[in-house]
Amino acid sequence: MTENKTESQPAKASGLAGVVAGQSSVGFIDGKQGILRYRGYDIHELADKSTFEETVYLLWNGDLPSRAELADFTTFLAAQREVPAPVLEFIQNAPTDASPIGLLRTAVSGLGQYDPDAEDISDAANKRKAGRLTAQLATLVAAIERCRKGNEPIAPDPALGHAANYLYMLRGERPSATEARALDVALVLHADHGFNASTFSAKVTAATLSDMHSAITSAVGTLKGPLHGGANQRVREMLDEIGSTERVPEWVTEKLAKKERIMGFGHRVYKVEDPRARHLRASAEALRASGDPSLLDISARLVDVVHEAKGLEVNVDFWSASLYSYLNLAPRSFPAIFALSRISGWTTHVMEQYADNKLIRPRAEYVGPDARDYVSVEDRG
Ligand code: COA
Repeated sequence: MTENKTESQPAKASGLAGVVAGQSSVGFIDGKQGILRYRGYDIHELADKSTFEETVYLLWNGDLPSRAELADFTTFLAAQREVPAPVLEFIQNAPTDASPIGLLRTAVSGLGQYDPDAEDISDAANKRKAGRLTAQLATLVAAIERCRKGNEPIAPDPALGHAANYLYMLRGERPSATEARALDVALVLHADHGFNASTFSAKVTAATLSDMHSAITSAVGTLKGPLHGGANQRVREMLDEIGSTERVPEWVTEKLAKKERIMGFGHRVYKVEDPRARHLRASAEALRASGDPSLLDISARLVDVVHEAKGLEVNVDFWSASLYSYLNLAPRSFPAIFALSRISGWTTHVMEQYADNKLIRPRAEYVGPDARDYVSVEDRG
C-alpha cells in the first residue's frame, strides 16, 4: 500500500479566504478601512451623484461617459429590454411557488438559446450580450414577480431609466421620483464587488472559454445562496420573526447561543461597516412612511445589540431589506433584485477574464483514505 502524499501539497486557505486569485482593474476594496471604489471612483461619490446607467458605462468602459456618450448608452440599454417570447412563456408557465431567483437562473440560461451572438465570445459580441443581458434581466425579474401573482407581464417603457422602468414593469404605473432614485442608488451600490462568490463563479465558467450566458447562469445560481445574495430576503424574514424592538436582545442571545447566523451581519472582506450600508439606510429612512416603520426601529436596535454581543457590522443586505420593503417589493424577489444590478459587475469581470484568460483550476487537499487494493464484488461478502 502506498501513501497518497507523493506530491508536495499546495498552500490551502479555507474558503479561499485571503487568497489573491488574479488581477482586476474593475474595483478596489479595503476591508479594514471600509473603502470601495469602482474604476477609482469612491462608492460614496457614485451613490450621491451617479446613476445605474452611468455606473454600468463606467464598469464596462473604464471611464465615465461624456454627456453625449451617456445619452447614447442610456438609449442603447433601453432599446434592448425585450425578452424572447419563449423565455417569457417559460416564466408564465412556471410554478407560482418557484423561487424567483431560481426562475431567473433558468431564464438567463434560456436567453442564451435565442441570443444572436450566443456562441461568439469576441469582444464586440460580448459587449452586445452584456447590454442585452443587463437590460433583459430587469424585464425578467419584473415578469417573474407579476406572473407569481397571476398577472400578465408589462412591456418596458423606453422613456424611463433602468430603475424607474423596473418599478413600472412591476406595478403598471410610474414610480415617484424618490422611489426611482432610491432604487437607482441601490443598483449603483450593488453593481460590483471584486471577486465575490457569484462574480468568481462567472469567471470560472468564462475561463473555460464557455459563453457569456453560461457564465451569468453560473453567477445567478451562486448569488441565490443565503450566505450571498439570498441574505436580503432572510433579513426581512428575520425582522418579521423578531417583531418588536423589545424582543431584539433576547432574540439575538438565543440565536448566538444556538450558534446560528444573523443575516445581514458579517462579511468576508469588510471588518468595519460596509461602506454601502449608510446609503441604503438613508434611502430606507427617506421612504419610511411608505411601509411599516417598525422595520427600521427593529433594524436600528439589532445593529447595536449584535455589535455589542459579537462585534459584527452590517453588510449590504441589511438595510436593503427595509429599503426594498418600503419600495413595496416582495421579499422573495429581493435576491433577484440584487442580480438586476450585479449583472453589470458580472459581465465586466467576464469580459476582463476573456481579455487575459487562464483556466481557473485550484487543487484540493486530499483527506480521504490512503491507496488501497480493489477487491472484486464476488469476494466482498
Ligand atoms: N452571525 C453570527 N455570527 C457570525 C456572522 C453572523 N452573520 N458572521 C460571522 N459570524 C461569526 C462566525 O460564527 C465566526 O465566529 P467564531 O469565530 O466565534 O466561530 C466568525 O464570525 C467568523 O465567521 P466566518 O464564517 O469564518 O466568516 P466568513 O468570512 O466565512 O463569513 C459571511 C462571511 C458573510 C458568510 C458571514 O458573515 C455570514 O454568514 N453572514 C450572514 C449572511 C449574510 O449576511 N450574507 C451576506 C454577505 S454580503
